[in-house]
Amino acid sequence: MRKDQTLLSILSDGEWHSGEALAQSLGVSRTAVWKQLNRLMGPDVAIERVRGKGYRLLSHLDLLDHDRIMALFGESARSRVSLEVLDDVDSTNTRVMQLGKRSGDEVSICVADRQTQGRGRRGRVWSSPAGENIYLSMGVRLKGGFSALEGLSLVVGIAVCRALESLGLDGVALKWPNDVLFDSRKLAGILIELQGELEGAVRVIVGVGINVHMNRVDAAVDQPWISLDAAAPSVTWQRNDVIAAVVNQTLKAIGQFEGEGFAAFQSDWRARDSLLGTSLRTDPEGVQGIGAGVDAAGAYLLDAADGQVTVRAGELSLRRNP
Ligand code: BTN
Repeated sequence: MRKDQTLLSILSDGEWHSGEALAQSLGVSRTAVWKQLNRLMGPDVAIERVRGKGYRLLSHLDLLDHDRIMALFGESARSRVSLEVLDDVDSTNTRVMQLGKRSGDEVSICVADRQTQGRGRRGRVWSSPAGENIYLSMGVRLKGGFSALEGLSLVVGIAVCRALESLGLDGVALKWPNDVLFDSRKLAGILIELQGELEGAVRVIVGVGINVHMNRVDAAVDQPWISLDAAAPSVTWQRNDVIAAVVNQTLKAIGQFEGEGFAAFQSDWRARDSLLGTSLRTDPEGVQGIGAGVDAAGAYLLDAADGQVTVRAGELSLRRNP
């Protein structure tokens, strides 16, 4: 962690900290602490200074914290997981892919405060500004090889919905295959990448991006979006809590998926389906039909003029007709 991040992390409890104690924790002089605090202060960071008491953070900060996230993992997750929390990374999916080559950990997880080359589905850029959202990737070994993968990306969508619901969000929905929506706007995206097959297991990188505090975006975002702060303003959203809930739910859901397949999730997915009964077309093929929900393998069914069409995940997506 950078020294300025460490300083903020110490101050994030909102209590008074003397200049001397801060200097000691960081291994620098009191003047260096004072200079660093001056650099940190800005529109989002207000720090109060009182002679004889020291410094106190007035703004509410939502910093990523490795130990807090680990403490929030369920017993079974904690024993299987290695967690890396970074300030900056190109893409957490790329990082976990690199870790997989050398780590023997059952589940390797990377979370970053910012991504410089965040990736979305279908070659899109995933806007990843610092400090605002969640960029999370989990490298998991899945029994059964590539053939077992159909349906996995939908299962992760359910896990993200369940995690957000457990923290107080109502009305979250899914758009096939795995966009997480609120009020018809994108709240979270999932990117699943494969690393390879080994002894009957496949290593899968599950990447999850969730908009948390973001209230403006760059030009790269070309679809309606929303963040948790706007979707449920009465909840104080803390990224550490959301990350732990998503990991707990995802590992649990993947375990069930390995044993029972997508059929065990079909009715839950159908209950959250935002496309059911709407007029749709496939992109790029342009097949037209009415949304009829997912089948037991996770493929999407369209009621077309000349019968039912099955749409499989991959590079195909569904668009609403105007
Ligand atoms: C989508 O297009 O809907 C998928 C977006 C996935 C974004 C996440 S953020 C963490 C992980 N790292 C990436 O580069 N992408 C995924």
